[in-house]
Amino acid sequence: MSNWYSTMKILLHLLTAILLIAGTVFAGDYLRPPPRKTFHFPWDPKSSSQPQQVHISLAGDKHLRVTWVTSDGSSPSIVEYGTSPGKYSAIAQGESTKYSYLLYSSGKIHHTVIGPLQENTTYFYRCGGESPEFQLKTPPSMFPVTFAVAGDLGQTGWTKSTLDHIDQCKYDVHLLPGDLAYADYLQHRWDTFGQLVQPLASSRPWMVTQGNHEKESIPFLEDGFVSYNSRWKMPFEESGSTSNLYYSFDVAGVHIIMLGSYTPYDEYSDQYSWLKADLLKVDRKRTPWLVVLFHVPWYNSNRAHQGEGDDMMTSMEPLLYAAGVDIVFTGHVHAYERTRRVYNGKSDPCGAVHITIGDGGNREGLAHRYKQPPPEWSVFREASFGHGELKMVNSTHAFWSWHRNEDDEPVQSDQVWITSLIGSGCNTGGGHEMIRILMDS
Ligand SMILES: [Fe+2]
Repeated sequence: MSNWYSTMKILLHLLTAILLIAGTVFAGDYLRPPPRKTFHFPWDPKSSSQPQQVHISLAGDKHLRVTWVTSDGSSPSIVEYGTSPGKYSAIAQGESTKYSYLLYSSGKIHHTVIGPLQENTTYFYRCGGESPEFQLKTPPSMFPVTFAVAGDLGQTGWTKSTLDHIDQCKYDVHLLPGDLAYADYLQHRWDTFGQLVQPLASSRPWMVTQGNHEKESIPFLEDGFVSYNSRWKMPFEESGSTSNLYYSFDVAGVHIIMLGSYTPYDEYSDQYSWLKADLLKVDRKRTPWLVVLFHVPWYNSNRAHQGEGDDMMTSMEPLLYAAGVDIVFTGHVHAYERTRRVYNGKSDPCGAVHITIGDGGNREGLAHRYKQPPPEWSVFREASFGHGELKMVNSTHAFWSWHRNEDDEPVQSDQVWITSLIGSGCNTGGGHEMIRILMDS
């Protein structure tokens, strides 16, 4: 009996192995694992003043915004903080909001700005006067500075893998070019996503922009971004914008602009006017690097979502080119791709490097089909889940690496040194081309 049982067990293992191999897709020398399922978190909406879904974001010079949710509507929007565990030398009072969406009512969403904070320093804090204590590190004010970059996260087993890998890297700020929770109208998924990312997002600033999965409009009933705007308040007021859907901020010597692919971007739009004004304010002596993020790629040779970014590109690419943008990060296409410096559809030494990093791990799976042959501007492309790391070493050199989620190890699969446009002879803001475009429009 035991022999029979052992034989059956071996056969079962063999069968499982064959099915696993059959379920993978071969890409070069890499056996790609199959998609992973959406996590199902227990969600307990009972009344509690316990802080949940804690995340932090940059909020102007030397300040951070702490955001959290309580089920208890009477919980105060205060954050106590200091540089030693359990000793809070400062306290900040914030504001709160909540929203309803059809039958769903959110918890109390607290937004409290803390600071001024010292650079590159660990702070301990607690929200609403309640345990537990959280810990964060502020970004440096000078080079080097490192960004983790991953878009289209969702909340699957692959999302968890991506987040675990990001957690292993030393970084200062997380950049997310759209598609966060994949809530898609199911509001409790915003709550479970908040819980999933809390360990990382409560310890390093998460700077996000919106994707199509944040848009939850129901004509005449619901505003498209009520959930996103209520939960992921970004420093738009601090950067002179009137919309949470586009804004900018500085980290060390990098000026970062977050644009909205799903809010008007034509030359008569508020976003376009704000972008022009923001670009004119950039001082490349203070912030030698200029980086832009938005959701729908302009340069991507995957067959998925072809042409969706064309209108925005027609409208805004001349502005970005005239200002000398160094790097553009996008998502949407669930695969990784890096270009040469490009402008107007072809390689251009004064254009931006475009990097699509929509491979965070969402439930829709990967986009495998590519245009053949690759365009001349495409340097590296691969349909695998993963994340990127951008280390700005100094004012002229940055090291970019993309890390594929291979099994449960992050494997560096693409890497390149990028030199900034400063000192390249190209326009880097305020040049004649920039002035001409601004005068013409
Ligand atoms: Fe998307």
